[in-house]
Amino acid sequence: AADCFESRLLDGLHLLITAGPTREAIDPVRYISNHSSGKMGFALAEAAAEAGARVTLVSGPVNLRTPDRVQRVDVVSALDMLTACEAALPADILIASAAVADYRPAHVSDSKLKKTDDNQQGMRLELVRNPDILATLAMHPNRRPGLCVGFAAETHDLLRYASDKLQRKNLDLIIANDVSQRDIGFNSDDNRVTLLSRQQAPQHLELASKASLARHIIRIIGEHIGRTA
Ligand code: CTP
Ligand code: CA
Repeated sequence: AADCFESRLLDGLHLLITAGPTREAIDPVRYISNHSSGKMGFALAEAAAEAGARVTLVSGPVNLRTPDRVQRVDVVSALDMLTACEAALPADILIASAAVADYRPAHVSDSKLKKTDDNQQGMRLELVRNPDILATLAMHPNRRPGLCVGFAAETHDLLRYASDKLQRKNLDLIIANDVSQRDIGFNSDDNRVTLLSRQQAPQHLELASKASLARHIIRIIGEHIGRTA
């Protein structure tokens, strides 16, 4: 889809993109996280910058190089990510591709947890819910980005759950990602997604490299804000 890419499509706009996993500390040496590589978010940041946008990329811990002309803000936890996103507002467009941990340990120990006689058999870790970064920004009373785009990573009932999230989080677009297949999604270089919006029928995009998909998604975002190439 590289040939349908319009290089000045997002001129003058500020894009806020979240990417990568978050890490939720248990103690100074341990954390809860997930397998997100950040590749899709970084590809989107690169495509948006190529399309002329000013891009703020708020990223959890990943092993990727920062795309040219992208302002990267590194964060660790979901709470950090929310703070960094709020500090980056106002934004014209938000794309939330981060795999934010839904829960964090209720208590973070100041010192390394030790095995003791009390927990010979096992132990329980108490978790509390993290804020939903995307929903918080998409329902912001006065600084909601004009176009809010989310991802839905699902292993089953993909379109039903994705369309639930589109409504529930007050989004304009959601990119539904089937993570049940091993060849695509999370850590892979390729992906196959379906775009759901409020008005139109679901738009299935072919299996492609994340770089090529990112350009395709940026072009569709351009259409949604009336910047048809
Ligand atoms: N998201 C977020 N903050 C969270 C959780 C999710 O910003 N605390 C965003 C993700 O970046 C993604 C979208 O919300 O764009 C959907 O994430 P997903 O994990 O698929 O959905 P959840 O609402 O967390 O629901 P569940 O994990 O139960 O399916
Ligand atoms: Ca989740």
